[in-house]
Amino acid sequence: MVRILIPERVEAESLGALIEASFEPQYGERWTAEQIISALAMPGTTAAYAYVEDNELRPAGFSLVRQVADEAELLLIAVAPDQRGKGLGGRLLDYAVETCCSSSIRDMFLEVRAGNTNAICLYKSRGFEVVGKRPGYYRADNGQLHDALTMRLRLFRT
Ligand SMILES: CC(C)(COP(=O)(O)OP(=O)(O)OC[C@H]1O[C@@H](n2cnc3c(N)ncnc32)[C@H](O)[C@@H]1OP(=O)(O)O)[C@@H](O)C(=O)NCCC(=O)NCCS
Repeated sequence: MVRILIPERVEAESLGALIEASFEPQYGERWTAEQIISALAMPGTTAAYAYVEDNELRPAGFSLVRQVADEAELLLIAVAPDQRGKGLGGRLLDYAVETCCSSSIRDMFLEVRAGNTNAICLYKSRGFEVVGKRPGYYRADNGQLHDALTMRLRLFRT
């Protein structure tokens, strides 16, 4: 069973382990736990965890969204490698979109590495469309640059 929960407090240690397991270092997409905690200190930023419940509740996924005026940005979404393909990423994204809808957000944006097929499939499955490209947006640890796509989901139209 999967549960989506909003943490009262984000613990850097458990989050750091989840993020480290979820992002490969060679693409420059990985955030540190400290970066996430700094982002959460900014107004309008919220986190959600996906927990898998077997004998205990284990954090298996995480998302981070920032809302500014009538726009939102999906800053980060990650699912632990051994829990992928089971719907957790979709549940986290659906939750983020529902939260934005109830806050009257008009457009939700995100950046994704152009070669990140899993994430692009997830976003397209929820109606996101590519609206731009940012050459060399991600810098990997070895200095290699990777392009990003900007994607947008329209929530309300006038
Ligand atoms: C991207 C990511 C979050 C997806 O999580 P997930 O739990 O495996 O995704 P789900 O199982 O919920 O799949 C969601 C949808 O995406 C589609 N999808 C996911 N991976 C896919 C793939 N490789 N090929 C085709 N479709 C795919 C599924 O068909 C599914 O659609 P549906 O809900 O309509 O059936 C996960 O791969 C991940 O954590 N990657 C590393 C971190 C990352 O790159 N994050 C994005 C940038 S911040």
